[in-house]
Amino acid sequence: MVKAMEVYEGKAKKMIPLDEKKLIMEFKDDATAFNGEKKAQFKGKGWLNAQISAKLFKLLEEEGVKTHFIGVAGENRLIVERLEMYPLEVVVRNVVAGSLKKRLPFKEGTELPEPIVELYYKDDAMGDPMINHHHSRALGIREDELREMERIALRVNEILREYFEKRGIILVDFKLEFGKNERGEIVLADEISPDTCRFWDAETRESLDKDVFRFDRGDLISAYEELYRRLS
Ligand code: ADP
Ligand code: TMP
Ligand code: ASP
Repeated sequence: MVKAMEVYEGKAKKMIPLDEKKLIMEFKDDATAFNGEKKAQFKGKGWLNAQISAKLFKLLEEEGVKTHFIGVAGENRLIVERLEMYPLEVVVRNVVAGSLKKRLPFKEGTELPEPIVELYYKDDAMGDPMINHHHSRALGIREDELREMERIALRVNEILREYFEKRGIILVDFKLEFGKNERGEIVLADEISPDTCRFWDAETRESLDKDVFRFDRGDLISAYEELYRRLS
């Protein structure tokens, strides 16, 4: 949780208060997987994730999605609007991969008939358990807020899916986080990068994301650079 004027250091980023309303979001070179069980550092990852996130937030803003992105403040730093975060991870899936294989009897790579939205309670000590609307309401999140987050998540999916398809990439799944601003509006926050999305090359089906690190599938920086190159 990012509080008051203190610096918050998470697993992948540092959140540095600029003033009451803004934060610097500094992307680190650290990589973690499986709730922090697996750890490593990759020189240049912070820079790549900051640049990729900035590009995608700009695209979403152009398409009318309200995000916390204000600007780029250096190689691995973005300036963002400071929000009161919801303790949720909102995952959208288009293709079967990762933990969905434990939930549905479909093979990896199967395209889903329609996108699936999932909610997780963001709590490292509990291993980010999957929850539903009833659990979320027990946490104090209103039904209309949940529906608005899901609506935005599906709109983000439409925009990003088409954008990546044009670049020879399948958007398999991704995770979003949301916060509330001073006006009570729900705003898309955190990052959108190969750390938080699954991207597959449309031809070879090779991963251009953190699965390269999670499952030792090659060089993380080469994969992230290739993704960045396709966006440039
Ligand atoms: P974690 O906390 O999971 O280790 P990170 O290292 O990515 O994750 O840290 C970033 C933290 O900043 C997360 O807790 C995230 O919810 C929070 N955050 C992201 N965007 C904002 C924002 N605009 N305002 C306040 N907090 C934010
Ligand atoms: P999963 O298949 O492991 O549940 O992951 C679904 C998507 O969410 C995938 O694109 C990776 C992303 N993700 C995060 O960003 N943070 C996490 O802690 C987890 C588990 C997944
Ligand atoms: N982000 C989580 C971690 O840092 C899990 C993951 O992305 O696989 O451990």
